[in-house]
Amino acid sequence: MSMLERARALDAADPLAEYRERFDLPEGVIYLDGNSLGALPKTTPDRLAQVMREEWGRDLIKSWNTADWISLPQRVGGKIAPLIGAQPHEVIVADSVSVNLFKLMSAALAMQARKDGARRKVILSEPGNFPTDLYMIQGLEKQGLATQRLAERDAIIDALDDDVALLLLTHVHYKTGAKYDMAALTKAAHDAGALVLWDLSHTGGAMPVALNECVAGEEGADFAVGCGYKYLNGGPGAPAYAFVAERHHEALEQPLSGWMGHAQPFAFDDDYQPAPGVDRLLCGTAPILSVAALEEGVDLVAEIGVDRLWEKSQALSEFFRECLSDAGVTLDLVSPEEADQRGSQLSFRHENAYALCQALIARDVIGDFRAPDILRLGFAPAYLRFEDMAETAQALAEVLENGEWQRDEFSERAAVT
Ligand SMILES: Cc1ncc(COP(=O)(O)O)c(C=O)c1O
Repeated sequence: MSMLERARALDAADPLAEYRERFDLPEGVIYLDGNSLGALPKTTPDRLAQVMREEWGRDLIKSWNTADWISLPQRVGGKIAPLIGAQPHEVIVADSVSVNLFKLMSAALAMQARKDGARRKVILSEPGNFPTDLYMIQGLEKQGLATQRLAERDAIIDALDDDVALLLLTHVHYKTGAKYDMAALTKAAHDAGALVLWDLSHTGGAMPVALNECVAGEEGADFAVGCGYKYLNGGPGAPAYAFVAERHHEALEQPLSGWMGHAQPFAFDDDYQPAPGVDRLLCGTAPILSVAALEEGVDLVAEIGVDRLWEKSQALSEFFRECLSDAGVTLDLVSPEEADQRGSQLSFRHENAYALCQALIARDVIGDFRAPDILRLGFAPAYLRFEDMAETAQALAEVLENGEWQRDEFSERAAVT
């Protein structure tokens, strides 16, 4: 049986196959970039039209109450919560991942300072973490509030000393797809007196994660942030989400003390009083159209279920590797060999990765490039077929074999890669 025949048999038996129809995917395109921008759920345009025409156009400002716009960030946060092992009142949709990182890192430093008089100021992370995570630490450092410390993955536990206030890690690495052992690192950080903040941007909606229960019999993660526009299919620039474990709700002091995080925004008091719980993470007015779009994506992911998505993700990436080897493609895999040690992606190092990626895109096989030399293929399991795996491997084999990637046009760098 050829790989394509095998793929078709796998698709026929795939319990998630029906969900592909719930996304608006262009004919003939193999979309391997759902880890960067998730595909469009078919219900989203109608939902947005309804919010615009009826709630905004017809009902105007009344919709803050009648359509309950005011609690949309909490409602969508509550729906994201079970996908990441949190309680509904521990998650809220707000701002971008970057801004939420700033709020939570600053809150964590303040919490630690109340305990030890600001002795612990180090935020520990890894070199090569997603840039915004590091840039946001550096922003706090410039203000004299934090000290950045970076340790390689296998040296992180050793770097957890008495100076570390917070461990900030991205659960699934954006470039390599390598996944941290959340339980081991959360426990190690707590044992060293540090708090933990997980960036779940490449996790949420692709695989289950147990923020509260990750360490058996002990406290789980303290904080987390995650992205709305990747596996949650919330649309370009979709708002992000933030998690704060219930035990920290009362002590949480975030620096962006805007009016929407006030206990009574419509009392218009001169003095800031934080709202209870995660509501205080709100700063300004929520972007209602964007949060509504995100809700459609989240509802669809919740309906499919993260356990099933994760199972299919692993099957897809393993099958893809088989297809590559069947097609005689040998590429330098930088993602972990074991499917359960990586996220929903495979990354390959190639000195001409950019041109290779462009040549694939010209064939309607859309992956992405991460500087300086990574070809990144994401396997969003909600809408990809095993057939797509066989066809991508074939396309990759042809592009490499016939040198197609060497065409001049494939080396011209666009602003967004
Ligand atoms: C791990 C990680 N964190 C943060 C971000 C950026 O999030 P935002 O654009 O919402 O600030 C990304 C974007 O790709 C990411 O991969």
